[in-house]
Amino acid sequence: MPGRHLIRTEAEIDGIRKAGHLSSEILDMVGEKIGLGITTAEINKWVHEYTVSHGAIPASLDYYGYPASVCTSINEVVCHGIPEDRKLKDGDIINVDVTSILNGFYGDTSRMYIIGEASEEARKLVQVTKECLNIGIEQVKPFNRVGDIAYAIEQHAEKYGFSVVQDFGGHGIGLKFHEDPFIAHYGNKDEGMVLVPNMVFTIEPMLNAGRYQCKVLADEWTAVTVDGSLSAQWEHTVRVTEDGAEILTK
Ligand code: MF3
Ligand code: CO
Ligand code: CO
Repeated sequence: MPGRHLIRTEAEIDGIRKAGHLSSEILDMVGEKIGLGITTAEINKWVHEYTVSHGAIPASLDYYGYPASVCTSINEVVCHGIPEDRKLKDGDIINVDVTSILNGFYGDTSRMYIIGEASEEARKLVQVTKECLNIGIEQVKPFNRVGDIAYAIEQHAEKYGFSVVQDFGGHGIGLKFHEDPFIAHYGNKDEGMVLVPNMVFTIEPMLNAGRYQCKVLADEWTAVTVDGSLSAQWEHTVRVTEDGAEILTK
């Protein structure tokens, strides 16, 4: 069973829900404006300005030295891509990952956006990864274990010949950015921490079209697939309820 420190009070959950809602609204805003010719630096500016104008702080900025207010991960970038001046081009797939701190509470969520006409494989990868997130959330209920989430996600990914990234995973969140437990997206059912009501954590599967291995570039943040294959990710912050899950980043 998790320690009591992993169980949030109603007041804390309310704070995380408000932060989560803001992060989700930011992704709605990004979705309305993103497209061909937009740079990831522009996305960073939109996210930063929207966050601070709503009384919040972008959690990623200066987090262990991370230099931006959002992560933007294009094509073979698995996660933690740093915004830059490169323009989005036809067929790109991009993950935008937003974490806001509102009144001291954290809400973390990410989505994929498809720019113009992407390949069949790219579209399938984006869709199946979204399904993996939802299938993972379906496993969230009291007395299931974190391994049940992992197993369900991996099974679904493998059905389509995609691989699941192992080097990064979901995490407890709420009063800090990254807390226990670690949520792997691959593994065995009936293993790992038991879920109890009012635990709050993220589920954020990363699937690769090729092999699962990642490497981090010289900037010490950008994680890419070793084989250069495409990668996709979707993320929600969720709460364990009395009989299931509540998505806090709606
Ligand atoms: N938002 C990412 C996550 O889902 C973490 C980004 S850390 C950063 O856990 F420093 F790269 F922003
Ligand atoms: Co996260
Ligand atoms: Co995130």
